[in-house]
Amino acid sequence: MSDPIVRPGRSAEREVEGQKATPRHVAIIMDGNGRWAARRGLPRVAGHRAGAEAVRRTMQAAADAGVEVLTLYAFSSENWRRSEDEVSDLKGLMRFYLERELGTLQKEKVRLKLIGEPAAFGNDLYDRLSQAVEETKDNDRLTLVVALNYGSQAELVGAARALAERAKAGEIDPATIDIAAVESLLHTRDLPPLDLLVRTSGEVRLSNFLLWQAAYAELVFTDTLWPDFDEAAFAATLAEFARRQRRFGGR
Ligand code: IPE
Ligand code: IPE
Ligand code: MG
Repeated sequence: MSDPIVRPGRSAEREVEGQKATPRHVAIIMDGNGRWAARRGLPRVAGHRAGAEAVRRTMQAAADAGVEVLTLYAFSSENWRRSEDEVSDLKGLMRFYLERELGTLQKEKVRLKLIGEPAAFGNDLYDRLSQAVEETKDNDRLTLVVALNYGSQAELVGAARALAERAKAGEIDPATIDIAAVESLLHTRDLPPLDLLVRTSGEVRLSNFLLWQAAYAELVFTDTLWPDFDEAAFAATLAEFARRQRRFGGR
């Protein structure tokens, strides 16, 4: 078939060349900070602090394993439903770890990128984040994508709206809208296809994370709470990925 009605995504095309043992793009729903703290009789913020250390370990493990892109779900568009205190703690920790780890990003040649709507965190944090993105843009060992105030449904609504506006202005014919046209408007447009999506803490749901991008990603759910996630846990998810046989609808 030269022009199938449903075209495979970019991942599928790549797979024709054969299965890769190491995923190029890994995303993680970092969940379980609150439960980690509760089990120790600590406030939730202590769990978020411990979670930030897990980010550091995982970033290093991903770079060492040759992963190209690590995308981390740090704050969802629904996390505003938490108490003002918790949101404020999370913003404070983001600021603190950004300052503390910027040197590490440079030393380890990690490029920082953001997806979501981080401007909602206020000018102070947003300007500092944008500056870190700019300062690390030429690093090429690992791309660390942090999802901040990210929601997949809002991302898709944004793409739909942009396409509708272009059609209304007569710039495009709606009949020409295809998978690539939608992908070109997603926050992940410059990233390789998502290969592996991991969620910690035993919850088995996506919580509005990368719904489109996960179309053919391998999913791994682990009971480990995010603050306990370490090099060995990351290696175990990569081993699980390597055992999977990806088919993309083929045989
Ligand atoms: C994940 O841990 C961190 C964020 C969502 C910011 P949680 O805070 O959701 O921890 P649990 O799910 O309550 O244990
Ligand atoms: C998902 O975790 C969001 C992040 C990890 C940032 P949540 O803890 O917010 O998800 P739900 O509420 O359990 O679905
Ligand atoms: Mg949670």
